[in-house]
Amino acid sequence: MGSIVGDSNAVSQPISLTSWIDSGLLLKTTMTSSDSQSWHILGAGAVGSLWANYLLRNKQPVCILCRSPEQLDAFWDNPFLTLVVDGQRYKSQPKTELFSSNQPIHKLLVTTKSYDTLEAIQSVAHRIDRSTQIVVLQNGMGNQQSVAELFPNSAVYAGTTTEGAYRTGPHQVVHAGRGKTWFGPFNKAANDQGGEPLQALLDLDLVSDYEDSIHTRLWQKLAINCAINGLTAIHDCRNGKLLESPYLEEMIQLCDEVELVAAKLNQPLFPHPLIDAAKGVAKATGENLSSMLQDVRHQRQTEISSINGFLCRQAEQLSIPVPHNQQLTERVLKLSAEQDQ
Ligand SMILES: NC(=O)c1ccc[n+]([C@@H]2O[C@H](COP(=O)([O-])OP(=O)(O)OC[C@H]3O[C@@H](n4cnc5c(N)ncnc54)[C@H](OP(=O)(O)O)[C@@H]3O)[C@@H](O)[C@H]2O)c1
Repeated sequence: MGSIVGDSNAVSQPISLTSWIDSGLLLKTTMTSSDSQSWHILGAGAVGSLWANYLLRNKQPVCILCRSPEQLDAFWDNPFLTLVVDGQRYKSQPKTELFSSNQPIHKLLVTTKSYDTLEAIQSVAHRIDRSTQIVVLQNGMGNQQSVAELFPNSAVYAGTTTEGAYRTGPHQVVHAGRGKTWFGPFNKAANDQGGEPLQALLDLDLVSDYEDSIHTRLWQKLAINCAINGLTAIHDCRNGKLLESPYLEEMIQLCDEVELVAAKLNQPLFPHPLIDAAKGVAKATGENLSSMLQDVRHQRQTEISSINGFLCRQAEQLSIPVPHNQQLTERVLKLSAEQDQ
């Protein structure tokens, strides 16, 4: 059976095109990228390209930030982004800019992997000021906090998604599974501005909501990812395998520790025990390969440090022992290191 690439908690559904059967339609933006409504994409990989495509589809101006002249040249050779969804292809044309440009950025969508966040955003820091709205759309936790500390005067929003996407080429993304996305304010400046600056993101043909308590959504995602992703990586198995012994016992131990830490932080998770939520996701995504397992298999760095690693750092500050999460983090890190050799 084929596998959906993406999140452990992406309850992926096959996509049917209902509202835009305009395959082959070429969208061209006419506004300049310095327009204050333009969304600048930092990290135009699977998720960044997915949002870029859907924004352009909705006639929103998009600018892809390129870190090297080579990346910019690639857009000279092929200026289009291609979205493949349900076997149909849609092309659209974004603006492009080098990181080093001096054009101010008003709306920034950060979609790098969590471990690349700081390096990436620091490269465009000279273009960010207090009027910039920054949206960090990633898995894991800790990065949103780092961004908020780096830009205390800018409105920082966080997002979490269960959409599933993967790249098949530098400018081509496949929307592999429908999910849901939540965006919400991460710092006071964003809280003061509310959801209005994000309206363009909320209006797309992607199911998304504005969520005042985005911290809880981030924690829910973190908790599920803590329970599933690392285990599938070390056991080299699909999500559904975790419902069987002895993996299930390991998942229970991880969930117990996550709940202890969350409780100490007064952070609500789910209305029911975490293990029930984790089992539900493992069942619903039984055939999926988690993104962490894919990363290990492809010898890429994983996001374990901002998932179970983040949980362990929180636990340490609270003096709560979390040996199972600690061991899992170390095993995944070792696995990645071994594959690097
Ligand atoms: N893919 C999914 O289905 C999915 C679903 C839910 C959540 N997420 C989460 O979304 C985030 C992004 O995932 P993804 O799958 O889109 O990853 P991805 O395809 O690897 O994209 C990351 C992008 O960031 C770029 N990048 C790396 N270092 C950078 C730097 N220093 N400056 C600027 N750009 C840099 C990469 O450039 P290169 O192309 O040059 O490497 C790449 O284009 C992750 O936190 C992931 O867990 C993904």
